[in-house]
Amino acid sequence: MKNVNLLKAAIVALLLIPAISSAADRVGDFSLLDQDGYHHSMSWYDDHKMIALLVQANDSQAAADALPAFDALKAKYDGQGVEFMMINPMGKHNRSAVQAKAAVYAVDIPILMDDARVISEALGIERAGEVLLYNPRSFMVEYRGSVAASEKAIQEILAGEDVSVASVATSGPVISYAATAVPSYIADIAPILADNCATCHREGGIAPFAMDSHTMVQGWSPMIREVLMTKRMPPGQIDGHIGEFINDRLITDEEVRNVIAWADAGAPKDGDTDPLTELTWSTSKWSLSDKPDLVLKVPSQQVPATGVLAVQRCCGED
Ligand code: HEC
Repeated sequence: MKNVNLLKAAIVALLLIPAISSAADRVGDFSLLDQDGYHHSMSWYDDHKMIALLVQANDSQAAADALPAFDALKAKYDGQGVEFMMINPMGKHNRSAVQAKAAVYAVDIPILMDDARVISEALGIERAGEVLLYNPRSFMVEYRGSVAASEKAIQEILAGEDVSVASVATSGPVISYAATAVPSYIADIAPILADNCATCHREGGIAPFAMDSHTMVQGWSPMIREVLMTKRMPPGQIDGHIGEFINDRLITDEEVRNVIAWADAGAPKDGDTDPLTELTWSTSKWSLSDKPDLVLKVPSQQVPATGVLAVQRCCGED
């Protein structure tokens, strides 16, 4: 037990450093669903030199105007290690409206839907119609600006050179983000982690570390940010646009925004109490209820050396 705690303390100490320094300059890996519900994880494209993102908004003429040139770049550089996508930073949950717009555009370029808007904000997206060149290995933006000036940057990156003009002003409509104060650990963050994460992330739970104190979650906060940005946690990641599921473990956009804003601020603590240290859990060996409706006993099995076992009838009722 002692050793485990020492190990945890060491991990906490190591992770505290990136928590404070990493957020500003490096966007990090991220994953988003496109307008058709397909999942795009940026690190899957790490065999590419870059991902070109055109900022799309349904009512933006600037985006529509930039699209033909962007599509022409795709035709030219698609096979050379550049992946072309659009990103919708509006956070409107208007998947069907964006699908309809994509049909009007009639290009074969997915539109990533940033419903929680955390990715767009982290990428520093400022205007519809601008193009970003994002490196899926360093997770940094190497160019932002007009589609016209982006070709030079693409050529420089493909030639292994530094981008000579990394930022070009554009004139599309401004995308603004609500300024939020750093969320309170006690009032905002601890309840989110308790409700969405700690059932697994607790002493004796199935997850690899326990969210049972501020020190613990502060130490893990860069990783907590990453798993939210990449949609790895909570597990399941049911597409919230389709139907209603029981126990879907969906975390709301606002909760994601709050946890990321708190992690980016260095995961600070306010107040004198620590709600995560006060969580209590059922001691029942059954996680869903005190007594299951039915318990099946599986008799011990002999597995032949071949490893191949015929299908068996099993299980009597308890
Ligand atoms: C249903 C159980 C469950 C829930 C709920 C859950 N986790 Fe996890 N978590 C896991 C498991 C299991 C792993 C280990 C995954 C692995 O090793 O691949 C893990 C791993 C992690 C890691 C380590 C990084 C990694 O990829 O291994 C972080 C950070 C994390 N979870 C954060 C969270 C956050 C934040 C929440 C809530 C928003 C959450 N988890 C909710 C089960 C859960």
